[in-house]
Amino acid sequence: MSVDFIILAAGNSSRMKSSLPKFFHTIAGKPVIRYAIDAADACSYGGRTVLVTREDLQHSEHFSDTTVVIQDKPLGTADAVKCALNELHSEYTIILCGDMPFITTKHLATLINSSAENALIAMKLPAEFQNMPYGRVVLDNGKFERIVEYKNAIDAEKAITLANTGVYKIRSDLLKKYIHRIEKNAVSGEFYLTDIFNFIAEVEVAKSQDYEAFHGINTMQDLAKAEAIMQNELRQKFMASGVKLIDPSTVFFSHDTVIGPDVVIEPNVIIGVNVKVGAGSRIYAFSHIQDCTIAQNVEIGPFARIRGNSSFADGSIVGNFVEVKGSVVGKCSKVKHLSYIGDTIIGYSSNIGAGTITCNYDGVKKHKTDIGNNVFVGSNTTFIAPVTVGDEALIGAGSTITENVSSNALSIARARQTSYENGAEKIWSKKGKIYSESEK
Ligand code: UD1
Ligand code: CA
Repeated sequence: MSVDFIILAAGNSSRMKSSLPKFFHTIAGKPVIRYAIDAADACSYGGRTVLVTREDLQHSEHFSDTTVVIQDKPLGTADAVKCALNELHSEYTIILCGDMPFITTKHLATLINSSAENALIAMKLPAEFQNMPYGRVVLDNGKFERIVEYKNAIDAEKAITLANTGVYKIRSDLLKKYIHRIEKNAVSGEFYLTDIFNFIAEVEVAKSQDYEAFHGINTMQDLAKAEAIMQNELRQKFMASGVKLIDPSTVFFSHDTVIGPDVVIEPNVIIGVNVKVGAGSRIYAFSHIQDCTIAQNVEIGPFARIRGNSSFADGSIVGNFVEVKGSVVGKCSKVKHLSYIGDTIIGYSSNIGAGTITCNYDGVKKHKTDIGNNVFVGSNTTFIAPVTVGDEALIGAGSTITENVSSNALSIARARQTSYENGAEKIWSKKGKIYSESEK
């Protein structure tokens, strides 16, 4: 069966009270809208996913792989669907809202696999959500009769516990025919997509108990709640696969985090998007890591900051107060204390001393530092990139390295120390040293 999907995302997001539309806020690092797009794409079997959005959002990078159509004004869900009609080529169309991050292929498959030609998913409202302003599904002897919008409902209808999720399957030819018959609602002035079911004879109601799955993101409170649910799911998933989380509720993952077995993650760690952690590695407390590949038996942190497509080979160590950006740390190499490593390649078994800084930015461009294998860099070294250091080289502590260092070279680049015997005493007698009370 061929299916096209329409995802509605042209609403105003006004309840979010944010300059960013709700569709672009992220949950576990993934924009809200991508949850719906990915779920649809995963079960479209060659059909299309058509996204209806506002003109000012159409060029978003999040839509780059999707057919986008524009709704000029938010005149209602039926008007939004009209904008997508020309893009529909499959026998059936499934319509869903772009602000439902918990919708999965499993839910969509219920509709796809249903033998009914036209169907909608309805959810049973838990008692505490009885006042939520969802449309209510009115049944007559168990059969679908109509949907009444909350705004239009009388008290008896508001008391109905079966709510419309806004997810439908409709035969595309019927959709194209009847959508034009929908009239503007007298109360709200909107064109309600739900009114299309007034024209369709047989509508199956697929009932779901999964209230959370269909709850849309409308406010910052909704967003935070969704984040909490998603994080909890990710924590459970990783622990079930053998990842040790010492204090799970303080560790945050992204939707795409990949973690191998026997990894330990200490408390208060944030893992941003695009992170892979290999078996046996340990992330120490208070580290913030994103966009990196961590191989096996690597140690990161505590208090490490990792970003910008970095990679850490087996057995490498990045210690406390170290930032690594856009760099490669080779097998068994160590950057243990207080360093900034940016746009740098470090070979294997090299030791980068405390306080080493790669000066990668000259104010205009970024430059690379290339450090070989078995290199020893003394503490407080500054590399002024671009610069290359050969294998087995030795850099004296406190050096400012501006020129390439060849293999096996010893390089010291700092002012020579001058000491004057009794020089201090002379100065003190001239100035009169100020002693503290206890020294007198
Ligand atoms: C809609 C349903 C309601 C259902 C609820 C489920 C209608 C008339 N009502 O109500 O029965 O219980 O969803 O969440 O459909 N949108 C557009 N263009 C518009 C208007 C809306 O693209 O002109 C998009 C919104 O961005 C959103 C979706 O359509 O993603 C739903 O719109 P919304 O205004 O939230 O509809 P509800 O009033 O919640
Ligand atoms: Ca809504």
